[in-house]
Amino acid sequence: MNSRTGQVVLVTGATDGLGRYLTGELTAGGASVVAHGRNPSKLGRLRDDLGVETVRADLARLRDVDAMADELLERVPRLDVLVNNAGVGFGPPGGERELSGDGIELRLAVNYLAGYRLTRRLLPLLVESAPARIVNVSSIGQQPLDFDDPMLEASYDGITAYRRSKLAQVMFTLDLAHELRDRGVTVNALHPATFMNTSMVFEHGAAPMSTVEEGGAATLRLVTDEALAAVTGRFFDGRREARPDRTAYDEQARARLRRLSDELVTSTLRSA
Ligand SMILES: NC(=O)c1ccc[n+]([C@@H]2O[C@H](COP(=O)([O-])OP(=O)(O)OC[C@H]3O[C@@H](n4cnc5c(N)ncnc54)[C@H](OP(=O)(O)O)[C@@H]3O)[C@@H](O)[C@H]2O)c1
Repeated sequence: MNSRTGQVVLVTGATDGLGRYLTGELTAGGASVVAHGRNPSKLGRLRDDLGVETVRADLARLRDVDAMADELLERVPRLDVLVNNAGVGFGPPGGERELSGDGIELRLAVNYLAGYRLTRRLLPLLVESAPARIVNVSSIGQQPLDFDDPMLEASYDGITAYRRSKLAQVMFTLDLAHELRDRGVTVNALHPATFMNTSMVFEHGAAPMSTVEEGGAATLRLVTDEALAAVTGRFFDGRREARPDRTAYDEQARARLRRLSDELVTSTLRSA
């Protein structure tokens, strides 16, 4: 594994599970990690334990996402890797539909839309810092969005909401890779591992089937491996390249998702 010595890496959702593991490993490998979280005391512990810089934002509020981007663009002179890792899982079995602080279905908001907005806001810095990488921590559990009911108002279950948000992340990955070709910024997505031993898996009452170290190794490979320096627009299941749900290759569906995302961002920020 190659390290990211001297490189600046932003990890979202760094206060628990996979994000915390990545933050520890990258810091030990010599990277300057900016660790994102929403909880001030958890962020304080991360600073004390690992000596990393931190940034706070509730990703369920697009105003917070924008404030975080503004702060980073001021504070950080370069950004070599952005790891969009923060996420909300299935929730407890039979859990009720939840909304973000902006009134958007929570999993769509946190798992997809926050990363979409944050990435778009940080793109100028990533392009300036090229060669740079964007790693989207998605999942193999994917379902197409219902564009007639993107907020799952008609019928809801947490697993469907999660899977839709995760395919949306992959669709964004493919779009952005295409947009950034020849700009020196790669964009890839992955399923780190199945049912790692993390809070979101415990919350659902599922028995862990893998460890954070396994998912962490697959994710670190996308962050650091020099052999992948030119690889972009791909989806990986662990360390193996895989095909996402076929909707990811549907350019009309991707264009529709882009329109929906931009409309949601614009209307939310206008009214907030
Ligand atoms: N676990 C698995 O088996 C598995 C499988 C496939 C994919 N994944 C993906 O891997 C990524 C990491 O998951 P994990 O298993 O490490 O989960 P986790 O242990 O539950 O950690 C989730 C992280 O996201 C943060 N987060 C959640 N909601 C947030 C919000 N509104 N604003 C800001 N931060 C928020 C959490 O912050 P707090 O510390 O404040 O709660 C935490 O740092 C996710 O994208 C997940 O979908 C996981």
